[in-house]
This record gives sequence, structure tokens and C-alpha cells, in this order.
Amino acid sequence: MQTFEDRSIDNYAPLLNGRERDYVLHAIESGWVSYGGRYVKEFETLLAQTFGCADAVTVASGTCALQLAFELAGERDTEILIPALTFAAPASAAVRAGMHPVFIDLNPQTWQIDDELLAAFLEERCVRRDGRVVNTASGRLVSSICLVHLWGDLARLDRIHALARQWNLVVIHDAAQCLGACYKGMPLGASVPDDRADQIIFTTSFNANKIITTGAGGALIAKSQSLCRKARHLSSTAKADTMSFFHDDYGLNFRMSNINAAIGVAQMELLFDRIHRKQKLYEYYATAIQKRMDGVRLAQRTPESAGVFWMTCIELPQPSRSVIEKLVAQHIMVRPVWIPLPQLPVYSRFQYYQHDAFSTHLHEHAIMLPSGPGITEAQVDRVVSALAEACR
Ligand SMILES: Cc1ncc(COP(=O)(O)O)c(C=O)c1O
Repeated sequence: MQTFEDRSIDNYAPLLNGRERDYVLHAIESGWVSYGGRYVKEFETLLAQTFGCADAVTVASGTCALQLAFELAGERDTEILIPALTFAAPASAAVRAGMHPVFIDLNPQTWQIDDELLAAFLEERCVRRDGRVVNTASGRLVSSICLVHLWGDLARLDRIHALARQWNLVVIHDAAQCLGACYKGMPLGASVPDDRADQIIFTTSFNANKIITTGAGGALIAKSQSLCRKARHLSSTAKADTMSFFHDDYGLNFRMSNINAAIGVAQMELLFDRIHRKQKLYEYYATAIQKRMDGVRLAQRTPESAGVFWMTCIELPQPSRSVIEKLVAQHIMVRPVWIPLPQLPVYSRFQYYQHDAFSTHLHEHAIMLPSGPGITEAQVDRVVSALAEACR
């Protein structure tokens, strides 16, 4: 008899089909089940290599990584430019670190933060004062940009890094959805000029619906060794040495356990196979949708990037809400895209710089389709048939 689990298609089920069990067992048998241990080091080395950076610091979640990045590179009481449409973690972490988001709309061509709008905001709404940038509407300093690379693709890094240099802004890249992505054929760290290494930080997440998972976890990755040293220190209680209890800062305990890292090492061994498989799934979706449906647009891709196809996202010609309801009733777990943050009451007091409200349009018309790495072609066929039927 078919069970509910057989019929249901998850939005993003994790796949642990490598050496996870062996490594977790080894971690348990070694006694290193908490914050130290060989897998933490190995996982950090693999992450640093994947980003083309000097070092990586693993932490308990992607949100912890963002919070740490803002603590280190952000500046309290200054403004940070953030995409209006994203999962909320970067904005909430920024507010918790004492910063003020200014939301920037997405670009209809790239479905990423609109770099033209970013440039227009800086040129038209800001002035330079004593070498700093001041938002004329609020009177506050603008110190940073937070790029959130959405759906597995990338924003236009060259353009944004050039703007950041021109206006002397820190850039935090939230790479939670794009682990393994390349820009112009190179890992993301290659886009960081040496003289700006202290002003550019990457973060990522390993929760169960990410490209790879550690169960729960995240990391901060940077080209600057000294920045990573500070991040490691702050995230591990800020003890001056391992023996004494002399804490030289207001330390946090954000560390990842060796057990989570053991899962991470096994997952990293399959990262590039997984990205390849996800690209095939995306292409299979694209062909199936093109055959059966009119007027549907897949998430646009930035030409310079080799993304990782994290989540297949489509824009319907009609509002997506009732379509989503029909699919979920058939146990096909599609999802709307996030509510634009300026529409949430807690963020409505922050400035929103937009152009034709593309973020709102996407929220109302887009659907995130089941995209887990273990999804089969037969399941994709079932999703697309149900979608075509629901849109009729
Ligand atoms: C873009 C983005 N940033 C940050 C996070 C937060 O990561 P975590 O759930 O590991 O805290 C997520 C997802 O969960 C995300 O999609």
C-alpha cells in the first residue's frame, strides 16, 4: 500500500548518501563529540578551498555566521544595504548587530539585488562627508552592503565590488544558497581584491535544505586570515588561552560540534557531483515546463556566474497563491517566495529603495518547486503535470 511518505514530494529533502555514518561513528568513538576534533578542522579546510579563501570558521548556523560577520565588519548605528526579497536572516542579524537595513529591490533581469538601483541609491540619495557616505534622508552613515545570492545563482560581483570600492563599503556575502558557485570560472574568493580582504566576508548555511547539510550549521569564510582569527576567537567564548578562564572580549559560543562537522566532511566529498545532479534536474524541469506550459519564466541567471541550482524557482503569468494551494493539497510541497521584508511589520520602518516593486511581483507570482538533491525525474514529471493542471 502507498504511504503518505511515498506520495508526498518534499520541497527540499536532505540526502545523506555518502560516508556520513562512518565519520559520525568515528567522531563518537574518538570521544571528540563537542567543539574540538579532526572533522571541524577538515571541514574548515575544505570550505576555505571551495571559496578560494584563506580560512573558514564553522559555527552553529548560517544565522550565527551572519551575526558574527556583522559583529566583526559591521558598524553599530550605520546603514546596510540589503535585498528587499530574501529569507529574513541577514536583515535580522544586521538589526541585532545594531545596524539599520536599507532595502534594495531585485533586478527583473538577474532576480538578484539590483546593482543599478544600488548605484542610483548611492549617487542620488547619499553624499560623501569626511571620507564617509551619508544617507541624506536619514542622516546616518552607510557602511556596508549585504549581498544575498538567491536560488543558487550570484549577483554581479564585479559591478558590486567596484561600487563597494568606490564608496568604501564593507561587503558581506550571504552565500547560504550558493555553496560551490563560481564567478567567471573562479571560486568566489577570487573576486576579492587583496587590498579589500578585510572588508569582504562570506557566510553560508548547512541546514537541511541547503546544497549540503550538517543537520544544522553555518560558516564564515574570508580571504583575511586575521579576520578569521578574530571570528574564531569571538565565536568560541573569547578565551585568551585554553587553560585559563581569562576572557578578553564578550565572547559567544557559536561553535559547530565535531559530530556535525563529520557529516559536513562526508557531504563535501559529494559537493560537485551534487551540483552537477542539480543542474540536470533544473534542465529537466526547464524542458518539461516548456513542453507543457506557456508564459512561465524560470529564475533568470547571471551570465557571468556558474551557479549551483539550489532551488528551481518559476514565475507564473497569474498569481501563484491558489496554484500553490492546489499542489500542496496533492502533497507536492511547493513554496511561495519570501514576503518582501519591507512588507513585514518589524521591517516596515526601514527605508525601501525600489523600482516597479519587482520583489512584490515575485512574491505574488513565483513558486519554489521541489528541488532536493534526491528528487527523481518521475517526481519532476508529477510536479509539472500537477502544475500545468493547476494553472489551467
Ligand atoms: C539566504 C539565507 N541566509 C541565511 C539563512 C540562515 O541559515 P540558518 O538556517 O542555517 O540559520 C538561510 C536559510 O536558512 C538563507 O536562505
